[in-house]
Amino acid sequence: MTGRFENRTAFVTGGSRGIGKGIARQLAEGGAKVAIIDVNEEALQEVEAEFKEDGFDVFCQSADVVDYEQVEAAMQEAHNRFGSLDILVNNAGVIRDNMLFKMTDSDWDTVMNVHLKGSFNAARAAQRFMVENKYGRIINISSTSALGNRGQANYATAKAGLQGFTKTLAIELGKFGITANAVAPGFIETEMTKETASRIGISFEDLVKASVDKIPAGRSGKPEDIANAVAFFADEHSSFVNGQVLYVAGGPKN
Ligand SMILES: NC(=O)c1ccc[n+]([C@@H]2O[C@H](COP(=O)([O-])OP(=O)(O)OC[C@H]3O[C@@H](n4cnc5c(N)ncnc54)[C@H](O)[C@@H]3O)[C@@H](O)[C@H]2O)c1
Repeated sequence: MTGRFENRTAFVTGGSRGIGKGIARQLAEGGAKVAIIDVNEEALQEVEAEFKEDGFDVFCQSADVVDYEQVEAAMQEAHNRFGSLDILVNNAGVIRDNMLFKMTDSDWDTVMNVHLKGSFNAARAAQRFMVENKYGRIINISSTSALGNRGQANYATAKAGLQGFTKTLAIELGKFGITANAVAPGFIETEMTKETASRIGISFEDLVKASVDKIPAGRSGKPEDIANAVAFFADEHSSFVNGQVLYVAGGPKN
């Protein structure tokens, strides 16, 4: 049986660990050739070795999504190696949580740059390959925090902004066979949520438990849960699903 992403190339930002790695793995398991960029070089080397051992066609490049030239060069290289650029997943992200009165310019700018400028950079670089090929799937990783979250004025704003960006890409690029959609995860167990636990001074186990108590599905999310939703949007057959935001949070809120 051929995989659903056979002959497709996927480009995943921030894909060396966590949710991005889960997404890259699922797309690769479906037959996609996968390009991953990240600023974490150690994790990049690990994911490259792991994926190669599993027989996946993978290209890993150290690149910062905030720097257009680095993103563009990595994407060109992925295209040179694999022959197309079909799926873009804007997943790279950081948190710089703080209550508003303590939030610094740097907290604000860093989060806006990585999530918004980063997604803008990658989408801008990808669209030229996609438009030329009259095919593309762009999936942006938003968050339930887009609806507002204490201590995350910067992050909530960026994740809400990504939803507007997604809908605008859908409108502009639809006629070229390109769809743009967003997945908005709730609480997912990754290094990012571990960071949150240490910032608020509780153990990760306690944070997971407190989160699960509020999740109707009765469990926390795993990277695979987000990868499943991304795979739906990335599928060729989802061509009439465009400009949507899918909350993947084990319930309607959080
Ligand atoms: N974990 C959650 O509960 C959760 C919930 C909602 C949304 N999200 C979003 O999902 C995405 C993945 O998060 P995660 O939980 O896997 O976190 P993570 O910290 O494990 O992974 C994020 C990855 O992005 C990379 N990255 C950061 N800045 C970068 C840059 N400038 N250029 C390239 N790569 C960069 C990091 O090195 C890391 O590998 C993020 O956009 C995050 O905001 C996470």
